[in-house]
Amino acid sequence: MNIDIPEQLIAALRDARHVCILTGAGVSAESGVPTFREAQDGLWAKYRAEDLATPEAFLADPALIWRWYRWRRDMVSDAEPNPGHYAIARLEEILPRVTLVTQNVDDLHRRAGSKDIIEFHGNIFEDRCFAEGTLHVGDDSLDVPICPDCGANLRPGVVWFGEAIPEEALTRSCKAAADCDVFLSVGTSSLVYPAAGLTDLARENDAVIAEINPNATAHAASFDFALAGNSGEVLPELVKSLG
Ligand code: APR
Repeated sequence: MNIDIPEQLIAALRDARHVCILTGAGVSAESGVPTFREAQDGLWAKYRAEDLATPEAFLADPALIWRWYRWRRDMVSDAEPNPGHYAIARLEEILPRVTLVTQNVDDLHRRAGSKDIIEFHGNIFEDRCFAEGTLHVGDDSLDVPICPDCGANLRPGVVWFGEAIPEEALTRSCKAAADCDVFLSVGTSSLVYPAAGLTDLARENDAVIAEINPNATAHAASFDFALAGNSGEVLPELVKSLG
C-alpha cells in the first residue's frame, strides 16, 4: 500500500524541538486488541460501558467486573506490539524529544520499547485498593483480590468513566501538548475528554497537528494533516520518510 507522508509534515518533524504523540485503541487494533467504539467489534458495541467501566458497576458486582478485566488482561497479554508501536518507539530514538501520552491500558507501548509513557487511563496490569487507591502489583486470581493493607477489594488500575485522570499524568500531558511543535493524534476517535482536549491545547499553541486514523474523526477537518490509514502502516512510513 503506497502511503504518502506530506513533505510539510516531514519538514515539521525534522525541525521539531518537541513532539507530543497521543494514542488510542486504534494503535493496538492491528495487534488484535478490539477498539471501543467501532460499530461491530468495538467493546462498547458488545458491552455497555456504564455496566462495566464505572466505580458504581464495581460496587454493584465486583466479581463480574473483575472477571471482565481478567478476560481483557489475558487478551492483551497474548497480543504482541505491532509495527505502529515499534515506529513510535523508534521516533523516540530519532527525534530530540518525544512525549508519548496513551489512553491505552494494554502495556503494548512499553513492550515495544517506548520509555517515558504517560498512561493517561492507567494500566490493566496494575491493581488499586478500591478504598484507598493505593497501587498494587496485578493479582492474577479469578476472584476479586483483597487489599493487604485495609481489607477492601482491589480493583483494576484503570481510570473508569466518571473518575479523574491521575493528577501527574494530566499535568504532564497538558504541559507537553502546550509545549510541543508537532502533535500526532494516532488511533483515537477524539471523543473522550480530557484526552481529546490535548489536541485543542496543542492547536492553541500553534503546534502542527496531524491525525493518523483510517476513519476520519469528527475533528479531522481541524487538523493540519489527516493521514487516512492504519497506524501500523503509516507510522513506519513516517519513520522511513525521516530517513
Ligand atoms: N490504526 C489507526 N487507527 C485505527 C485503526 C488502525 N489500525 N483501527 C481503528 N482505528 C481508529 C478508529 O477509526 C477509531 O477512530 O481508532 C479509533 C478508536 O477509537 P475508540 O474505540 O473510541 O478508542 P479511543 O479513542 O482510544 O477511546 C478513548 O474511551 O472507552 C474509553 O477509556 C477508554 O481509552 C478509551 C477512551
